[in-house]
Amino acid sequence: MKKVFVTSQYPGESVSRLSEKYNVVVYPETTLPTREELLENARDSSALITTVSDIIDKELIDLSPELKIVSNAGVGYENVDIPYATKKGIFVANTPHVLTETTADLAWALMFSVARRIVQADEYVRAGEFTCWHPSLLLGMNIHNATLGIFGMGRIGTAVVRRAKGFDMKVIYQNRNRNVEAESETGAQYLDFETLLKESDFIVITAPLTDETRGKFGIEEFKKMKTSSIIINVARGAIIKEAELAYALEEGIIWGAGLDVFENEPVVNDQLLKLKNTVLVPHIGSASIQTRHVMIDMAVESVELALSGEIPKNLVNTKVLEYL
Ligand code: 8YV
Repeated sequence: MKKVFVTSQYPGESVSRLSEKYNVVVYPETTLPTREELLENARDSSALITTVSDIIDKELIDLSPELKIVSNAGVGYENVDIPYATKKGIFVANTPHVLTETTADLAWALMFSVARRIVQADEYVRAGEFTCWHPSLLLGMNIHNATLGIFGMGRIGTAVVRRAKGFDMKVIYQNRNRNVEAESETGAQYLDFETLLKESDFIVITAPLTDETRGKFGIEEFKKMKTSSIIINVARGAIIKEAELAYALEEGIIWGAGLDVFENEPVVNDQLLKLKNTVLVPHIGSASIQTRHVMIDMAVESVELALSGEIPKNLVNTKVLEYL
């Protein structure tokens, strides 16, 4: 019986359905497997269902001669050595589309939380400090009528912008290429990076991590932003130089930040942890009950297709077909 190793536990029935046909091993802990555990389990597996934290590199691939598919439950797949997997004839699949709206919801949750100081306000009440109302209590920033700057106008960026309509926001964006479709759908205006930095009240990062976007936001960029501006990152942590962001927030160079992702996850910069004008959440962009179900259903379906000799629908490395 072919072995399928699932590196995390998921809600729903689709993983148990897989057990009817395959020897499914689900990592039993609520943490992810260690490197050794991952290698040990991959060794005799025909399929892996992974998350973005499981590193699928040359070493693992070379140790796993049975491997037919890496089915990543997530849209990002920078954890997988795509060229090497492709050369070895291993399918790599992801779960696009299904987490777009959920991640856009979280971007807005962070915008609200930072702009209206929700976390601080909650702590204030719970600490018994709400003893009298006064006019300067926990003043925040308006979201309505503000300028929203999107860095990365893909599916998630567009979904964030769609939600801005109800807040009468002006929307500007920067992307590798102009996204004419998103422009005509949302009225967003394409601008150069410098202007995006200067004019935005909120910058929301929804770009993938690439050689071009890595470290794109550092102290020089923060200095060009408004002192009243807020930066939100629901993409990948390494797009922001975290230590420089902490400095900018501490010195009032920008007003606030909401981060779902970190440069060296799960480690978070010490300085950031001390700041009040920052809301930090542990990479929960896709973490809604409904979306998690759909993600695992999709990842399981890719495994079923690959192991029955068919091509998975959400194939990331289409070039693999040349190596089969
Ligand atoms: C996922 C994400 O939950 O899909 C992605 O790329 O960043 C997250 O929202 C995570 O990747 C799980 O693998």
